[in-house]
Amino acid sequence: MQREAKSETSAGSWKTTPEQRHNLTVEDAIRGRQSIRGFLKTPVPRPLIARILETAGRAPSGTNIQPWKVYVADGAIRDQITAEMCHAYDTAPEPERPYNYYPQKWREPYIGRRRACGWGLYGTLGITREDKEGMRLQRRGNYDLFGAPVGLFFTIDKDMEIGSWLDSGMFIQSVMIAARQFGLETCPQAALANYHELLRKRLGMPDVEQVVCGMALGYPDPDAKVNTFRTDREPVEAFTTFVDEIKG
Ligand SMILES: Cc1cc2nc3c(=O)[nH]c(=O)nc-3n(C[C@H](O)[C@H](O)[C@H](O)COP(=O)(O)O)c2cc1C
Repeated sequence: MQREAKSETSAGSWKTTPEQRHNLTVEDAIRGRQSIRGFLKTPVPRPLIARILETAGRAPSGTNIQPWKVYVADGAIRDQITAEMCHAYDTAPEPERPYNYYPQKWREPYIGRRRACGWGLYGTLGITREDKEGMRLQRRGNYDLFGAPVGLFFTIDKDMEIGSWLDSGMFIQSVMIAARQFGLETCPQAALANYHELLRKRLGMPDVEQVVCGMALGYPDPDAKVNTFRTDREPVEAFTTFVDEIKG
């Protein structure tokens, strides 16, 4: 039987405990995911990280080529690379990402959605348009993985084509969803790709690989105000066409 679309859910919210998530439905796991930008320092055991990555590795890819690669930085390595990225951010202009994530020329409806996201996040934190230092510090948080104990850095080989970027995206989303079952949350971070040279050097990535993005992984801080920011979405009618007649 077809289920009515839900308008909102709390069953899979980041506030639920690992015990409450044991029977998380797929729908609630997806709907309850949100980007978390305040984490507890609680370490994540490596076998658990491996289990999440193994699960995500079941993601589909064209002809099963599995083009994704991931570097896990935790413990002292995590502390060192975040310190180096924050230092670089504090002392020099941010380097450019090695690829264009966004359109070269912004237009509606995308620019409007982008602004709503940015101002919504800053608004939650009480950062006003004049507060340039507040904005700088919020952005800086990216380079400290928002306090998360684990950084995941996704790469693909440079000679791979657009199809492999699709495949990687599916893998990356699968990591985010698989993590939720264990009480873990994530923030995907394109910002981390800005420091691809530093990451390449410090994490030993070969030259033939390209950083796609990074991700903060850890347990959400229940007291972090930033985590109360929830983005909205367009209704299904806005991006879906149920085709009722053959054209032409
Ligand atoms: C590939 C990718 C890169 C992102 N990069 C960043 C980032 O660098 N910093 C950040 O704070 N959020 C980043 N985000 C999170 C988006 O802002 C977020 O997904 C979007 O606003 C929707 O909110 P939600 O994830 O809470 O549903 C990224 C998301 C994706 C999918």
